[in-house]
This record gives sequence, C-alpha cells and structure tokens, in this order.
Amino acid sequence: MKKYFIVGNWKMNMAYREAVKLVKDIDSMTKPLDSNLEVVLCTPYIHIPVLVETLSHSAVRIGAQNCNENKSGAFTGEVSAEMIKSYDCDYVILGHSERREYFNESNELINKKILIALENNLKVILCIGESLDERQNDETNKVLNTQLRFCLSNIPKEEYENIIIAYEPIWAIGTGLTASNEQINETHNAIRNYLIEIMGGKGISVPILYGGSLNDKNASDILKIKEVYGGLIGGASLKSESFVNIIKTAEGYTNI
Ligand code: 13P
Repeated sequence: MKKYFIVGNWKMNMAYREAVKLVKDIDSMTKPLDSNLEVVLCTPYIHIPVLVETLSHSAVRIGAQNCNENKSGAFTGEVSAEMIKSYDCDYVILGHSERREYFNESNELINKKILIALENNLKVILCIGESLDERQNDETNKVLNTQLRFCLSNIPKEEYENIIIAYEPIWAIGTGLTASNEQINETHNAIRNYLIEIMGGKGISVPILYGGSLNDKNASDILKIKEVYGGLIGGASLKSESFVNIIKTAEGYTNI
C-alpha cells in the first residue's frame, strides 16, 4: 500500500475570494479523500487562517511556503513556525529553489528553518534540485547529496518521520519541461540511497515527491514510478480541475 502526498504550492498567487473558491472546489470534488492520500495546499501566509477555517471539516490540509529561522522577535515582515502551527497548519515548504535564488537562502539557513519548524511540530517539505548547468555537467547527484546533508544536519532522529523530500529539478519548474521518467527514477533512487546513508533505516520511509511541470497529463506516468510518493505542484495546483485530476490519478495508485 503506497501513501501519496499531493501538495499544491500556490507561490504568490490567488487573492482572497478566488483562494476560498479554489479550496472549496477542491474539497467538494475530492470528498471523501482516500486515507492513503494526503492533500496539502501551501498558500500565501495571509490566506492561512481563513482557509484553515474553510476546510475545518475537510481532510484537505493547509500548509505554508516558508517560515523564519528565529523563534520570535524584531524581524519585521516575517512569520514564525510557532505562528503557522498555531493555526492548525501542519506543513511548511522549506528550501524551495525560488527562495534559494531570489532570497539567497543557503543550505545552512534552510537547516536552521527546518530545525525550528520541527521544534514547533510542523512537517517539513524540503525541496532540493539541480540547475540545468549542473545536470549537463553531471553534477546532479553531488548537488543533491550536498543539499540533503547540510539541510538535514543535526536533526534529531525522532524527527525523521516529519521530513518529506521534494525533488524539483530547477530547469523543470514552470517551464513545461519535466524530467524524463528515467531521470526521475534514477534521481529518486539516488536520493533514497543518500537518505539511508544519512538517516539509517529510517531513510527508507521518507516520502520523496517530484515537482516541476507536473500536471494532469503527465501525472499518471510520473506518479507510478517506484520511488515517487507524490508531487509538489505549482501551476497545475491553481485550477481545481487539473489539481483534482492529479489527486484522482494518485488515488488510483494507492492500492498498488
Ligand atoms: P510548476 O508545477 O509550476 O512547474 O512548479 C513546481 C514548483 O515549483 C512547486 O514547488
């Protein structure tokens, strides 16, 4: 029995009314949700309270896209892990390549964010991925291994079960280019091996998701790859129909 995570990353999209409508539509189109499926919508911070309330009777979960690395204090404009958790929000995406690139987030900083998120009982969706140059120079495995080792350092063993990895090749994000099934299979297998090296036996059960131009057309091929336990979906998570089609595809595979 395979458990799948279908996670939407809304990025900086959706104003109030369309956000509420989208979650209501997704909820009504997927009810009842298969118990082997976890559906999470990672929305802009500002929508979290109202969307958690909107989904109070739903199995669909709301998550955040970032958190600050400090506990609290004079950090104007920032949001803490404790605040996110206080809204019954259980998930946070950390280390997304857009944050690494546009906000200069290093592996060391991401590691601090992961530690504070876990301390506040959030589940972390850690994004890793290589650039096109790195793939063409045969550096993919080295880059991913480094990202995993730095980002996951000093994490208490009992927290390993609260980590989810999202492999997102940077060149596939928002470009319409997905990694080929062979590339995904090979890379997810390599990530699994690194997780086992880092975490020992517990590395076997960490879910590894794929992200990068995943949509309702390619989901059936990608989600059936052995080490793919779901998807982190940007553009296709902004339309109820395409997102729900991806959820239904995963649902069809949970009994395999
Ligand atoms: P797209 O699905 O739009 O390529 O975005 C992927 C992504 O960055 C999810 O975090």
